[in-house]
Amino acid sequence: MTEKRQFRAIKGTRDILPPDSALWSGFEQTAREVFESYNFREIRPPIFEETTLFARSIGADTDVVSKEMYTFEDREQFSIANPQSLVDVIRIDEAVADAWHHGRIPHTPANEAEVLRLHEESQKMDREGAPAILRFMDALHKLALGDSITLRPEATASVCRAYIEHGMHTLPGNVKLYYAGPMFRRERPQKGRFRQFYQIGAEVLGPSDAPAIDAEVMEMLVDFFRRVDLRDTTLYVNSIGCRECRPKYVELLRDALRKVKGGLREDSQRRIDTNPLRVLDSKLGEEQPVIETLPRISDHLCPACREHFAKLKNELKLRGIAYQENWRLVRGLDYYTRTTFEVTAPGLGSQNAVCGGGRYDGLVELLGGPAGVKGIGFAIGTDRAILSIQESGKAPKLPGLSVLVAWMGAKSYPAAVAIAKKLRACGVSVDLPAEEMKFKKSLGLADKLGSRYALIIGEDEVASGTYTLKRLADAEQKKFNDNDLLEYLESERRGSRA
Ligand code: HAM
Repeated sequence: MTEKRQFRAIKGTRDILPPDSALWSGFEQTAREVFESYNFREIRPPIFEETTLFARSIGADTDVVSKEMYTFEDREQFSIANPQSLVDVIRIDEAVADAWHHGRIPHTPANEAEVLRLHEESQKMDREGAPAILRFMDALHKLALGDSITLRPEATASVCRAYIEHGMHTLPGNVKLYYAGPMFRRERPQKGRFRQFYQIGAEVLGPSDAPAIDAEVMEMLVDFFRRVDLRDTTLYVNSIGCRECRPKYVELLRDALRKVKGGLREDSQRRIDTNPLRVLDSKLGEEQPVIETLPRISDHLCPACREHFAKLKNELKLRGIAYQENWRLVRGLDYYTRTTFEVTAPGLGSQNAVCGGGRYDGLVELLGGPAGVKGIGFAIGTDRAILSIQESGKAPKLPGLSVLVAWMGAKSYPAAVAIAKKLRACGVSVDLPAEEMKFKKSLGLADKLGSRYALIIGEDEVASGTYTLKRLADAEQKKFNDNDLLEYLESERRGSRA
C-alpha cells in the first residue's frame, strides 16, 4: 500500500491564495498600465536558460551564481538508475549504446571514453561482481548527457539574450521591454525572502545612454509605486563608474581596506581580495565606523561618468523625483556600470529592498551581441512590495462576489441558469448553487461568502417574470424584471451606486 502522507509546498515556495491573489493580479495589472503608458511592451522569456548565460552576465563570483542557482542537466534518463542484477546492467548498457548510436548522447571525447568504459565494465560483471557494478555506475554518472540549464534567478540576462537573438538592435531607437514572473534563488528563506519569488522588471536597450533614460525609468517606478499605494519608499541612487574609472577605484579601495583589515569581520576580510566593493554592502554594526572612513567612488569617477551622474541628478530634479545619494550602493550583480539604484519600503525588516536596478552598458556585447548597445533597467520584488502594502494596512479592498442566485424549485432552475449567464456576460460576479437549497440556507450561504446581493428566484418569481434582489448589508429588497435587473447591477458594478 502506498504511504499516506500530506504534501507541502517546498521550502521557500508558497501558494498565493485568494483574496491575496486578487491583490497580486491588481498589482501586476497596474504595472502593465503604467509601464505601457511609458511605451514599454511586454516580453515573456522562458523560465530556464543555459547556465552559462547567467554565469557570464551576473558574474561567476557573485552569490547568485556561485551559491543560489537551481541548475540541472537537461538529460535523458536511463530508466534503471540503480542496477540490481546483471540483467539490469545489460539493459542499461544496451540503452546507452543505442542512445550513443542515435546521437542522444553528445558525441564528445569524454563521453566516448565513458561509453566504452561502461561497456567494458558490463563485460566484467560476471567475473568481478560488485566492484564492476560500482565502476559501471561511475561511468554512467560521468556521462554528460545534456546541457546544463538553470531556472532563471533574474531576467535581465534573458532579455539581453532575446534582444540579440531576435536582432532587436535593428529596431528604431531604444527598445523598451517589461516582464513579470517567477525567479528562483536558493537563498535562506526568511521574511520577504523566498526561493521562488516574483519580479516585475523593465529594461531599455539601445544606442543611447542619455541620463534622461535613467531618470525616466526611475520616474516610471515612482509613478507605479504611487499608483499601487506603496508608501514611504526611499529611492537611493549612485554611480559606480565605468570600465575606465572603476578598476582604479577598486584598487584604491582594496589598499584602504587592507589598512583597516583588523576592524573587519571574516567575510569582509575575504572580500578585500575577491570583491572589495561588496564590503560596502555590509550591514554589520561594528564595521560601519570603519566603512565610513573608506574612499568614496563619487570622488574617483572619470569626467564622463561624473558628468553622466550630475546630469542624471538634474533630470531627477526636473521630474520632481525625491532621491538620496548613497555612495555604498554597489549592488550584487557584476553587470552594472554607472547608475545603480534601489528602493526600500517600510514593514519588511532586513529584506527591505523592493526594487533594484541600474545601467549595464557592456552586457549585450559581453553576451555576443553588437557593440555599442547600452542598457538600463530595474526589477521590483513583487512579494516584498505587496507585503509592505499589506503591512501598511493600505491594501485595497477588492470586490468580491456580487450576487448569489438563491433558487428553489425545479421550475426556477432554468431561469436561475439563464439569469446567471446574462449577469456574468455583463461582468457581474455570480455564484449559482449547484444543488437546490431552502431559501434560508442559500441566504445564509450568501452572507458567509460575503456576497453583496442574493437574487431570489422561486416558482412565484418565474411565474410573474420578476426577481427579488436582496441587499445583504441592510436586508433591503427590490423587485426587478430581467432588463431592469441587468441595468441596476451593471451600474452598481461601475460604482455609480453606493
Ligand atoms: P536584484 O536586486 O537581484 O536585481 O533583485 C531585484 C529585487 O528582487 C530585489 O530588490 C528584491 O525586491 C527582489 N528579490 C531578490 N531576491 C529575492 C528573494 N529571494 N525573495 C524575494 N524577493 C527577492 C535583479 O534581479 C536585476 N535583474 C534588476 C535589474 C534589471 N537590473 C537591471 N535591470
